[in-house]
Amino acid sequence: MRPALLVLSLTLALGAVASPARAGDARPEIDAQAHALQPKVLAWRRDLHEHPELGNRETRTAALVAAHLRALGLKVETGIATTGVTAVLKGGRPGPRIAIRADMDALPVTERNALPFASKATATFRGETVGVMHACGHDAHTSILMGVAEALTAMKADLPGEILFIFQPAEEGPPDGERGGASEMLAEGIFRDFKPEAVFGLHVFSTLPAGTVGYRSGPAMAASDRFNIVIKGRQTHGSRPWGGVDPIVAAAEVVTSAQAIVSRRQNISKLPVVVSFGAIKGGIRYNIIPDQVELIGTIRTFDEDMRQAVFADLKNVAEHVAAAHGATAVAQVPDTVGNPVTVNDPALTTRAVASLERAVGRDRVLPIDLTMGAEDFAYYAKEVPGFFFFVGATPKGQNPVTAPSNHSPEFFLDESALDVGLRSMLQVVLDYQDGVR
Ligand code: NI
Repeated sequence: MRPALLVLSLTLALGAVASPARAGDARPEIDAQAHALQPKVLAWRRDLHEHPELGNRETRTAALVAAHLRALGLKVETGIATTGVTAVLKGGRPGPRIAIRADMDALPVTERNALPFASKATATFRGETVGVMHACGHDAHTSILMGVAEALTAMKADLPGEILFIFQPAEEGPPDGERGGASEMLAEGIFRDFKPEAVFGLHVFSTLPAGTVGYRSGPAMAASDRFNIVIKGRQTHGSRPWGGVDPIVAAAEVVTSAQAIVSRRQNISKLPVVVSFGAIKGGIRYNIIPDQVELIGTIRTFDEDMRQAVFADLKNVAEHVAAAHGATAVAQVPDTVGNPVTVNDPALTTRAVASLERAVGRDRVLPIDLTMGAEDFAYYAKEVPGFFFFVGATPKGQNPVTAPSNHSPEFFLDESALDVGLRSMLQVVLDYQDGVR
């Protein structure tokens, strides 16, 4: 049942919300739930958007989520990996155990959108006062999963199996010196107590138009690793370079030689690799050759063997090029534990894509390119088969290629993505629980 007048008045009440996705064989129970929940999900999203919190500081968000899950009568656990929240829904019929994950953290970005619910929040980040914004759309992920939990709870009697809802902190990484995110949720045992046979997640994405969903089977999002290389020379007067060891020339050659790791040594016909230097720090004055130069950067890969090979190659290049200049290199490659590759299980992807097509229509489900960005959903998908898909966020009439991207101060979510995300996730989950292929 969808009386036209109701749809019209709801649409007006919600502002610029596009008409919901339609598909002939979508489930009627999803349609009913999506209609009923749309105003709530929208209100949650706007509230979260106005009150963003940085990683491991999501106390208000977590309290809101926990209160909602408790009101649904679910068994809720809080304080996991600092501010994480989980809840289990037991269906009335036997069936599989699965998990669905949303991330709750915002970014140190000062919002530039002129929205009535734009963020004015600030926080301290690395000793500086910064603006805080849901510039990656995790406000949408949290509110969609709150809606999914409510819809599935309403269908509980007929629902096969059990569902673990994961509301995770610090997807963007914990503050310096802290632990957090997906790996910490797992380390604290969320899959020990409840071992799912599959895990699902979604992300709103500026590079897709609102109304569409994107997916990729197999490796989908890159492993992301940081490196730190210190080239040590010996300080001398700029007029007498022979009196010391110049780490600047050695560092310049390390940067140049490192370009050959991707272009000459990796089989990039298989999968792409990126090695980027993000900062070079060394020296203080025009006529002093400094003692040392520090190089930092990032490595992106899609295959564990390639990832390990790049680590070894970069270390090798740094140490040997430095040695060729009489300098030494202390190469920490990687310097911290990075995110692994996010791999979508191919069999699970085939099933889930069929569900997405039923939810939003075949022509709105798009296979997408590899994403060089990383996601800590990867950790869950390393434990059990995972499927992580993308929900278009860019409004009609705007080019998704040039629209302000996730992490931009102008990142803008077309709120119709909330409905698309809700319907898509519900369809994927209900089809899976019912064994629909
Ligand atoms: Ni994100």
